[in-house]
Amino acid sequence: MSGHSTYEPKNPLAKWFDKQLPILSMSYDFMVFPTPKNLNYLWTFGGILSMCLVIQLVTGIVLAMHYTPHVDMAFSSVEHIMRDVNYGWLLRYIHATGGSMFFIAVFVHILRGMYYGSYKAPREILWILGVIILLLMMMTAFMGYVLPWGQMSFWGAKVITSLFSAIPFVGDWVVTLLWGGFSVDNPTLNRFFSLHYLMPFVIVGAVALHIWALHIPGSNNPTGVSVKSGQDTVPFHPYITMKDGFAAIVFLVLFAFFVFYKPNYLGHSINYEIADPLKTPEHIVPEWYFLPFYAILRAIPDKLGGVLAMAGAIVILFFLPWLDTSRVRSAKYRPIFRQFFWLFVIDVVILGFVGANPPEGWWITVGQFATAYYFAHFLLIIPLVGLIENPKPLPASISESVLANHPKGEPAAQPAE
Ligand code: HEM
Repeated sequence: MSGHSTYEPKNPLAKWFDKQLPILSMSYDFMVFPTPKNLNYLWTFGGILSMCLVIQLVTGIVLAMHYTPHVDMAFSSVEHIMRDVNYGWLLRYIHATGGSMFFIAVFVHILRGMYYGSYKAPREILWILGVIILLLMMMTAFMGYVLPWGQMSFWGAKVITSLFSAIPFVGDWVVTLLWGGFSVDNPTLNRFFSLHYLMPFVIVGAVALHIWALHIPGSNNPTGVSVKSGQDTVPFHPYITMKDGFAAIVFLVLFAFFVFYKPNYLGHSINYEIADPLKTPEHIVPEWYFLPFYAILRAIPDKLGGVLAMAGAIVILFFLPWLDTSRVRSAKYRPIFRQFFWLFVIDVVILGFVGANPPEGWWITVGQFATAYYFAHFLLIIPLVGLIENPKPLPASISESVLANHPKGEPAAQPAE
């Protein structure tokens, strides 16, 4: 929110309060914030993500009141939550399913940004903050999955933390630090619990910066054309609040379907067996949202190389604003890029399947090709397509593009002043 507030307190108490702590004028400015009038439903996912964050925080805090972070009691404390705590089963299923729903929403949100070029100037910092949030979310989800202390919790923790030993010189020291000892044990569970509790609050801080950075240039929109006049925007409330609210309700229906009908569908049944350091499961696989990255890790037949590729798969996102050479933001006007965008989505889905299967036979070859394509998309395709492609003509303004959808000359619905 930049510029001067247009808020005028209606009563002396509000005036007195706002002068000393301008929360009222900030909230008012937030509600009247000019938003492009052509936003589609893909722009509701930022709101949906904020809702997911609140749901995870509230359910997580109550779960923590009944959970015991000790290797001898963690597993049974989760069973106690499921069986004895009033509505404990509901809290746990909402929290566990909520992790998956959060990632569904964040993947849509990121792909929306990639399709419409929302990462391009003047929104690079907003995008970078988003990538930082993604990293924080991944760390939080990984540590959360360890807490029930089932077989997959234990072995997942062991496989992933052991990767750090590939770091030259300091690798073993880092692993000992993560474990709090010389194996995955009680100190590991304790530090993961503590950090899993802390990190969502760090995410809240990062989201506040993310939204602040959004409010400086304002939202991008499906045309990618910048807002030119007051005619191009509508106030955030009631237009966006209503649309975001409706989308959130639809999203909650899907959420509720999983919670009430398929609560364990997105998890692993083997995590209902208590962790046993002496019994390695046949397949150790992470949660579905990590599978593409897990596939990239295993595509390189060298431990350090695999770790670097996996980390690189996220780090490369930081550089996306500078790898894209196109003058045009939105894929709507970029016929070649649009096709490569969908090939990229298919590639990530393939990587997901590769990650879910054991690294044998032709899965290895598919994984290596899909990994090579993932990096080629960012390092070759995006820079080259931006240079070669001839974009379609852009509309002169958002209003022109909106009115083009009403050929009979009937004006698009205008907001009441
Ligand atoms: C907890 C996770 C997140 C929350 C709560 C969140 C919240 C929001 C909100 C409320 C908006 C404005 C509404 C909208 O455009 O949908 C937004 C926009 C945006 N977010 Fe996020 N976000 C999150 C994660 C991410 C991630 C991981 C990225 C990218 C890696 C990202 C990139 C962006 C971009 C580029 C925009 C501007 C979109 C535009 O104006 O076209 N966000 N975010």
